This record gives sequence, C-alpha cells and structure tokens, in this order.
Amino acid sequence: MASNGKMKALVLSGGKGSRLRPITHTSAKQLIPIANKPILFYGLEAIARAGIKEVGIVVGDTAQEIRAAVGDGSAFGFKATYIPQTEGPLGLAHAVKISHSFIGDSPFLMFLGDNLLKESLNPLVKDFMGKKPSAQILVAKVPNPSAFGVVELNGDGHVKRLVEKPAHPKSDLALVGVYLFDKSIFEAIRHIKPSARGELEITDAIQWLVDHKKKVITRPTDGWWKDTGKIGDLLEANRLIHETMEHSVHKDAQVDSASRLEGRVVLEAGVRVVESVIRGPAIIGANSHIIRSYVGPYSSIYYNTTVENSEIEHSIVLEQAKISNIRRIQDSLIGQRVEVIKSPVKPEAYRIMVGDSSRIEIP
Ligand code: TTP
Repeated sequence: MASNGKMKALVLSGGKGSRLRPITHTSAKQLIPIANKPILFYGLEAIARAGIKEVGIVVGDTAQEIRAAVGDGSAFGFKATYIPQTEGPLGLAHAVKISHSFIGDSPFLMFLGDNLLKESLNPLVKDFMGKKPSAQILVAKVPNPSAFGVVELNGDGHVKRLVEKPAHPKSDLALVGVYLFDKSIFEAIRHIKPSARGELEITDAIQWLVDHKKKVITRPTDGWWKDTGKIGDLLEANRLIHETMEHSVHKDAQVDSASRLEGRVVLEAGVRVVESVIRGPAIIGANSHIIRSYVGPYSSIYYNTTVENSEIEHSIVLEQAKISNIRRIQDSLIGQRVEVIKSPVKPEAYRIMVGDSSRIEIP
C-alpha cells in the first residue's frame, strides 16, 4: 500500500440523480450494484489502496442509506466522516465548500461517487505530491463532450478553458470524476458565482485558478472510465467489470444436473440453479433462484431474486425482484422488489403498476 498520511479524500455521494429515476426516487444511485457490488465501493477501495486514511463523504437525501453501507470506513481501512449537504445538491464546488473544515489545509483527492475508473489512483496521487500543482485534473476523450465538463488546451498543452456541459464544445476532452486539489481551491470557490443552472461549478473554480496563474495540470486517463449517471453508461460499466471477473461457485450454491454453467459464472452462497443455462460472464447473488431459465452474458442478478421460465441478458436486477415467464429481457435495470411477470389472467393485456418516471419498452 502507498503511504500517504497527509492526503485526504472527498467522495461526493449526494446529488439529485434525476437521470436515473425512478431508481433514485427511493435509493442512492451510488449504491446501485455493478456485478453485485455498490458502485461507490469500487471508488472507496481504490482510495484505500492509494493509502488515504481520512475520507469525507458528502451526502444528501440518501445520507442514511450511504452511512448504513459504508459505516465508519473501517471495513475499507480508513476513517469515514459524513458531511451533509443540507442546503441541497448545489453543485460540485458547493460540496467542496461545505467540506472545508474537514479538509483543512490538506491536499485532497475528490472523487465523484457515481464514477468508475479502471486505473489505480496511486500514480495520480504520486504525481500530484511530486509536482505540487494547485489542481490536477484527469481527462478522457469522449464522443459526446456536451454531456460533460470540457477542457480546452492551449497549443503548449496547458489548460486554457473549462466549460461545464457546453452546447458547442471546443474540444473532445472531458473531465473525469477524479480531481486533486490543494487548499487554493477554497479561495477559488469563494470567488465564483452559481451558474445558469444554479450550481457552484467545479469547472468555474478551476477556471479561476487558471486565470489567476495557479498551476493546473492535466493527466490523460489510463484505461476506461465511466460516469454511471445514466442507464446506458451503467450497463456499460457493468459489462466492463464483468470482463474482469473470475469463475467462482460458492460451496453452498446448488446446480442441478439438468443445468449448465458456461464460461465465467459467479454463484454466491445459497444460489439454486434448476434446469437452466447460465452463460457467463454473469453473477448471481446470495439465495437467488434461477429456475428453467437462461441467464446470458453481462447479467448481474442481486440477492434473494427469482428468475423462472425466463430469459435475461446484459441487465442488472436488484434484490428481491421476481421475473417470471418473460422472453426476453435485455439492456434493463430492474429495481428492488420489482415483479415482471406474464399473467395467465384474461383478457391478455399489459397490466402495469410502475413508479413515477419509469420507462417500459414493449416490442
Ligand atoms: P452528477 O451526476 O453530476 O449530478 P446528480 O447526482 O445531481 O445527477 P443528475 O444530473 O442525473 O440529476 O453528480 C456527480 C456526483 O456528485 C454524484 O455522485 C452526486 C454527487 N453530487 C453531490 O454530492 N452534490 C452535488 O451538489 C452534486 C451536483 C452532485
């Protein structure tokens, strides 16, 4: 483990999550499981591996759920401090502003709790500690820069301008959700005003640093990066994590002789597979039952879930959901305790009870 006594981390786990409704009406998007592990945990584990021992977690409406999942941080090997963003999700720079007393004068790594990154944070921290800039930002080329904070570089590679979600982007370099700052970011935030969307933007704060001749350096991302704020990206992140999974069947999982596991399949404790085919990469959570079904590649089925007489692939199913007599589910995110069932009741019709802002696509 790297030794990094001084550096702290700030993990942003509040926000509105409007692009993931209805899931975010009732739960924190940062706790949606990717390959059966909450998104947030991947970031927290990377922070722990970078040797950071003090982690501030900015929380909003879903504070209780995040606290219950992360606890005091000891399971990760750091001390967690919760920082409620009581005035509401007023922007990334606002989240930094309210964390000033936790951060003090320390350098810190800011991590967006819904972001997933393949590369280790260790070289980023080492680079920052060596070069001692005011800010170090991570950038990645994206096909749709208008959806991100965009960085424009000068001919000499220095940062010229940062713009949040520009309608007409001047570059295809997006800001990745990992930033390193020294204390001058607090001075920058004191000088900026809320943007047109009413948020204190971190891009404006970094722009202030650039305009005031502070050292702002960029690093390209090494490996993939996903902002999981939307369903397409969430499923893509799920696919990427599945690519790294090893085959493993818990000794308390039961697979009957009429079933087949193909490729890399993870079965957790208490799973029952009856007359089914599971084609990996796929993961089935504790005590879930797969009965007379096909579970295809890139499926993450969480715990206490039932899939019977159905086919599913490239999807995330949360806990205690029930899927019965459905051919076939694909590219889907199915929430906690949701039932998707084919009913024998006549007349044959769609009978639907779904929450606000849900989406159903029917062939
Ligand atoms: P975003 O995904 O940019 O914002 P959001 O969560 O409000 O989602 P949406 O745009 O779909 O409504 O936020 C990135 C991360 O930062 C995410 O983990 C939420 C967190 N966040 C805060 O903690 N406080 C804030 O004020 C904001 C804007 C985001």
